[in-house]
Amino acid sequence: MSATTRPSLLLRRYNAGQRLNHWITAITFLLLTFSGLALFHPSLFWFTQFFGGGTWTRILHPYIGVVMFVSFSLLALQFWHHNLLSRNDVQWLRQIRDVVQNHEDRLPEVDRYNAGQKLLFWVMIVTIPTLLITGVVIWRPWFAPYFTIDTVRIAALVHAVCAFVMISGIIVHIYAALWVKGTIGAMVRGTVTRAWAAKHHPGWYRRVIRGEDH
Ligand code: HEM
Repeated sequence: MSATTRPSLLLRRYNAGQRLNHWITAITFLLLTFSGLALFHPSLFWFTQFFGGGTWTRILHPYIGVVMFVSFSLLALQFWHHNLLSRNDVQWLRQIRDVVQNHEDRLPEVDRYNAGQKLLFWVMIVTIPTLLITGVVIWRPWFAPYFTIDTVRIAALVHAVCAFVMISGIIVHIYAALWVKGTIGAMVRGTVTRAWAAKHHPGWYRRVIRGEDH
């Protein structure tokens, strides 16, 4: 087969708009994590120096939160249908030992995303809007005065719990992206190799080959 007729070794997984959308979400999430932790505990207050001091950290945090919510919502609208759990996913979760021991050959066929990625997606779907709603309730001076002090206290607690869940989840998300070699390229260049797709997402690979997905 000549070089001109040889099929490309790379498959497109994300377009430029989707990658831009993802990285805006990721960068705003990191800014929120560090500014939020700075406000959460005095021992982490020193993070405020990256945001122009304590006052600026307090002013900026909720606005960055709104940007992340909008950006994540656009991402979620594009990907939610790829994250619906199937029968195979339930079996994949039952075989989580095989997943962590790298016995991918024993697992049921994975489609565009595996069950771990899908569950994390739904954790994001629950926690990000909850962070926005509780964040608005505790947002002084604009909205907090409209709520009772008990409501503001409960909202602050739920906000912190959701932030903890999200930060833990994103640590797993980043670890998995680095652990499965070749995955970061999907979100950096937009492409993956055929070998990566056939090994980690065989169901998606078959559909791409048939021209049913892109
Ligand atoms: C900060 C570092 C981050 C890194 C290195 C990273 C990396 C990646 C990579 C490599 C993928 C592609 C996975 C694949 O195609 O199989 C991906 C997908 C995705 N990421 Fe991230 N990400 C980060 C942060 C975030 C954050 C903060 C969010 C949301 C708040 C997020 C939401 C998503 C979503 C929704 C997908 C599509 C997967 C799905 O729909 O299940 N990412 N990420």
